[in-house]
Amino acid sequence: MTTVLLERKMPHVALLRLNRPEARNALSPELRLELREHFLSLSCDDTCRAIVITGDMRAFAAGADIKAMADMTPAQMMAQGDEQNWAAISQCLKPVIAAVNGYALGGGCELAMHGDIIVAGESAKFGQPEVRLGIMPGAGGTQRLTRSIGKYRAMKMLLTGSTMSATEAHAAGLVSEVVPDDEVVDAALAIASRIAAMPPLAVAEIKRVALSGMDLPLDAALMLERRAAYLLFGTEDKTIAMRAFVEKKTPTFSGR
Ligand code: CAA
Repeated sequence: MTTVLLERKMPHVALLRLNRPEARNALSPELRLELREHFLSLSCDDTCRAIVITGDMRAFAAGADIKAMADMTPAQMMAQGDEQNWAAISQCLKPVIAAVNGYALGGGCELAMHGDIIVAGESAKFGQPEVRLGIMPGAGGTQRLTRSIGKYRAMKMLLTGSTMSATEAHAAGLVSEVVPDDEVVDAALAIASRIAAMPPLAVAEIKRVALSGMDLPLDAALMLERRAAYLLFGTEDKTIAMRAFVEKKTPTFSGR
């Protein structure tokens, strides 16, 4: 069975649906591999300018597949090379929007945090319950959560395994937008569609600089920003956009 479905519902936007509803979209090794293949392929697909990733109404993803890893040794875990699967998502320069309904737990919460924008349904729940299983997050949970919502709220979630509602997550800065449950995917697609209408090289540079800059001292990050900003003056789309503004026309971007 295909564990990740690819849909192209509108121009330049790819929708990836996790498809293990019977297991609350738990991230099995096969699913993680399929996700990686989709991201690698969409990363170099010029017809794709934004990616929405979602699950179903009950679960975005309930984390790594506990049944698949219950008997695993450290060497077997390491041999899976899971970091390559996550790298395919984190290194993708196309904007990624996580559309979250239901549970986003463990690796599911980490997957949502690989998104650049998170749209959550009112009933969504976020959490890193790994501690309850005697393990800990391994795909950025201790780092991305702490950086998103701060040490004290993150520590409470990480150390107790407690969940956060969509409204709490929004107030804490983990979620970009909360919408009614049945509007999550449409709201995410609408944002993706707006981004897809922007000049792709500008979008990619903004994503690259915003994310890389978070790990750099301010001076170095500002230098990176300045250089990338200058570079965009060499693009065809900058000429198209500025000319359209002056001539009061709607621009169509070439991606060059
Ligand atoms: N792995 C494997 N199977 C899972 C699963 C998971 N993470 N989450 C749910 N399932 C399976 C259940 O075993 C169950 O299967 P059966 O029908 O065969 O019994 C099915 O999905 C439905 O689950 P529930 O009956 O439990 O559904 P629910 O709606 O009552 O509860 C839930 C949903 C709160 C998500 C609950 O299933 C749950 O707590 N799941 C585990 C969440 C978790 O601990 N995630 C962290 C995993 S570790 C991790 O992610 C870290 C890492 O990367 C290494």
